[in-house]
Amino acid sequence: AAVPKYVTPLAVPPVMPPVSTANGLDHYVIGVRRFRQQILPPGSPATTVWGYGPQRHPRGFQTPGHTIEARVGRPVRVTWVNALMDGDGDYLPHLLPVDPTLHWANPPGGVFGRDSRPRFASTPGRYRGPVPIVTHLHGGRNDQDSDGYPEAWYLPAARNLGEGYARVGSQYAPFGASFAAREGISWEPGSAVFQYTNDQPPSTLWYHDHTLGLTRLNVYAGLAAFYLLRGGSADLPPGVLPGPAPALGDSGRPSYHEIPLAIQDRSFAADGSLFYPGSRTYFDGFAGPYIPGSDMSPIWNPEFFGDTMVVNGRTWPVLAVRPRRFRFRILNGCNTRVLILKIVTNPRATRPAASAVPFWQIGSDGGFLPAPVELAALLVAPAERMDVIVDFTGIPAGTELFLINEGPDGPFQGDGKSPPANPETTGQVMKFTVGSLVGRDISVPPAQLTLPSFVPLGRASTTRKVGLLEHTSSAIPGAGPAATLLGTVPGRKPLMWSDPITENPPVGATETWEIHNFTVDAHPIHIHEVQFQLVGRQPFKGAARGPERGESGYKDTVIAYPGGITTIKARFEHPGLFVWHCHILEHEDNEMMRPYRIGPA
Ligand code: C2O
Ligand code: CU
Repeated sequence: AAVPKYVTPLAVPPVMPPVSTANGLDHYVIGVRRFRQQILPPGSPATTVWGYGPQRHPRGFQTPGHTIEARVGRPVRVTWVNALMDGDGDYLPHLLPVDPTLHWANPPGGVFGRDSRPRFASTPGRYRGPVPIVTHLHGGRNDQDSDGYPEAWYLPAARNLGEGYARVGSQYAPFGASFAAREGISWEPGSAVFQYTNDQPPSTLWYHDHTLGLTRLNVYAGLAAFYLLRGGSADLPPGVLPGPAPALGDSGRPSYHEIPLAIQDRSFAADGSLFYPGSRTYFDGFAGPYIPGSDMSPIWNPEFFGDTMVVNGRTWPVLAVRPRRFRFRILNGCNTRVLILKIVTNPRATRPAASAVPFWQIGSDGGFLPAPVELAALLVAPAERMDVIVDFTGIPAGTELFLINEGPDGPFQGDGKSPPANPETTGQVMKFTVGSLVGRDISVPPAQLTLPSFVPLGRASTTRKVGLLEHTSSAIPGAGPAATLLGTVPGRKPLMWSDPITENPPVGATETWEIHNFTVDAHPIHIHEVQFQLVGRQPFKGAARGPERGESGYKDTVIAYPGGITTIKARFEHPGLFVWHCHILEHEDNEMMRPYRIGPA
């Protein structure tokens, strides 16, 4: 049955309560738990999900999780607790089908021992062991120990782990304990202590799971949330932008005029449970049976597209607005889907639809743009953030406006090159109903807004060439990719996660990276630890062009279009082991991710 739209009010994720604000830092204890949430409209079944929340208040959990409100220059310490356990303290199995033939966390001692991991295993069964997790602050610049390295996962401290499972996961498990050890603070099995310095410009960050080979499933199950960094000399004085009252600190709650929007596509089974494909047949009809020793994974699919749009954990919600300015922090939290957002009067209009109200983009991933940019449509790839002002001033009370999506229900090749999403379903996102004005809007109209001064990067000392590649199965001719990969440009040699490090910038270096996309689709490429500047794009055949207007600020994720080179520039400051990868989560989970190291090993 079709899910009715625009019946549920938009939910705003609550602010994460700290357990302490002593000693100049905010300390949080954040659990990952399983719970049920009314994602579908009332009257439909609730959905079992996972989420981040205050570990000491297990009743208040939701997905997306609570928002961390952070201040520039004031560190945040988080004790991340893997609480995927039932009331008896026994571990819970995964909600979704794990593909044990990928390179994945693969907790030792379980049904899939270390040596049965690779593709050469015999027929895989369903993984029913404990769930590894590790959290990454996306866009944050921090020490390696706190970055959430994909192999730094850990299991819940469950009663029934048994002898076989190591209490704490992998060879990188010391990452989870090392910060605590250095600081002489307590650390418990089943948790990790990470610290974020917040030594970077104010920006819209988010945190999500990053476990090797499980990220697509853990995020889809609900492990994502906002982290809003404010203040410092690179922020605007209170009142200039719509939103958080100067007294944010009192209640910890941003005002109603600044709202984060996490947009995600999901599919639901009739019983309300989350649907995620459990076999390769979802993608291209490759029906198995699993061929032991073949290079085709039996469960993994190269892309996922849900049929239902969810904003802040509710399907097609509605938001009552006033005829004044609002600030929206938009996150594309989809696994694969690229969004092209517009505000229109008729949500079912023929695509492309006429935009009714523009977006004023003031920031992107890494903070403010040099100047506000007026846009009829917002192109947002997975993991990208758009900080926008929408001005409803002068719109008559009673008007209904719709946020629609003209991105494709399939892989993205470029704006105008991929057919728009179904206007009846995933082509719609949420509704705004305009009421009457209450009080006065003192925020500055976006056309008159001066943003904090923008400091560009200096000259680069090195140019690196890196490649985006795909591996096609030899066992099953005609099937889609068996793996997505990063690799070299000369020779187009694919490199696996486990291959030696090839990107090793010295500490303090500014480098140019040329990303050569040899595949047929666009990939959102994310580099940990840096906020980079997009230099421009050069098709293999055709004219070079500079960044799009909304891409002129600092970014951590950039769309690399097929058939060309996307060039970025970054300064690498903190020594350590980090990763860079495609943020299509299905790709990241199947080899489109590489470790890189800043400074000496
Ligand atoms: Cu949003 Cu490496 O992740
Ligand atoms: Cu990709």
